[in-house]
Amino acid sequence: MTLDTADPAFRADRFRTYREIRESSPVTRTLVNGQPSWLLTRYRDVERILKDPTCVVEPVPGQIPPHVGDGPAAHFYRLSLPNMSPPHHTRLRKLAGPAFAPRAIASMQGWVEEIIAEGIDRLADFDSEVDFVSEFATRVPAQIACRLLHAPIEDADTVLERMPALNAVLSQSDITADQLADADEVAQFYFDYIGAIIDRNRGRLGEDDPVGALLAAEEAGDKLSREELVVTLVGFFVASYHTTMVAMTNTVNALLTDRAQYVALTQDPSLAGTAWEESLRFDAPVHFIWRYAPPGGLEIDGHHIDAGSHLLLGLAAANRDPEKFDNPEVFDLTRARIRHLAFTAGGHYCLGAPLSRIEGEILLRRLPEKLPNIELREKNPTRMPDLSFPAITQLMVSPHGH
Ligand code: HEM
Repeated sequence: MTLDTADPAFRADRFRTYREIRESSPVTRTLVNGQPSWLLTRYRDVERILKDPTCVVEPVPGQIPPHVGDGPAAHFYRLSLPNMSPPHHTRLRKLAGPAFAPRAIASMQGWVEEIIAEGIDRLADFDSEVDFVSEFATRVPAQIACRLLHAPIEDADTVLERMPALNAVLSQSDITADQLADADEVAQFYFDYIGAIIDRNRGRLGEDDPVGALLAAEEAGDKLSREELVVTLVGFFVASYHTTMVAMTNTVNALLTDRAQYVALTQDPSLAGTAWEESLRFDAPVHFIWRYAPPGGLEIDGHHIDAGSHLLLGLAAANRDPEKFDNPEVFDLTRARIRHLAFTAGGHYCLGAPLSRIEGEILLRRLPEKLPNIELREKNPTRMPDLSFPAITQLMVSPHGH
């Protein structure tokens, strides 16, 4: 079984492929970057691996996959939270945790609301049609990422547009030599950019601020090195931008594709939070992540998986598993108990999930209020041919209807 992002059938409807694989061979072998891997697409298998602390993200402690090279992008890969295992991961996660604790999140609510409201006002200025991706979904999360990291807000339109090149080393797609060279250049650019922000803000931020909390840990001397501080903050920058951009686009695409759902939201704004969760289930921004089988190997569904085997976890596929969700192919605003895996589960559960939830709630409360008649100009938009991050590239909408 292969997952070929160049295959027109796969590109046209990935979810159909996931469904066919889940039904015919839910535990199957595939190739990722030329390496053999086990592909899991059922909710119960994916959740089990995510929650099993013996299934780690490094094949051997400290070892990184050869396809990420040995330049700045590899440095980013090695020191990034999602790619670390205990005890390093536990230590860093403990230091980064307060940055997204309820008190810190509550203090972000005001400025997040302001940025989203301004973004919606800009959309409303377009009379006929506008690309939701370039006009809103790239600018608004970029502004939020800049504000979060104390980067100048005027940098938002340019500084994050290079980010997808760096994502290539986190994706489970194949990577070419040219892509790796780009990823190296972009990684170095972000190290310098965030490094300068750190130096500008030293001594100026409280510990209830994400940057301030980590700066304090670094200044304490033995808790966090400068290198770890820089990479962790570049990680926040990257993680908060791209996933949010994709999630906002996917949400609006799903709601406007089945317009009755958007109308329902217009009539009952209290559905905003559920709409965000349902969209994360229905169209997860990250389709695949990975883990490695533990030293004793694994038994799944009669298959023996050898120790150290690469496991490709289908988050988007698991989120549409009929064993877990009734009518999983239907986007349903009234769905109860949406325990999706878009933020994963277990020790690496997305640290920014609470921030993402306030962003989603604000967007889906304010958009129907300001633009009740917004419509899609075309259905089935094109997506990036990337296995892990198939972002919609353009979503044309009429903000005030036809
Ligand atoms: C809808 C938006 C988002 C989605 C779908 C999402 C999804 C994910 C996924 C799939 C992972 C990998 C977890 C794993 O390997 O098990 C992750 C990790 C992470 N995310 Fe998010 N994310 C979102 C928003 C954010 C935001 C706004 C931030 C803010 C900085 C953030 C910060 C992080 C961090 C720091 C990690 C690493 C956690 C760890 O490995 O311990 N994410 N996220």
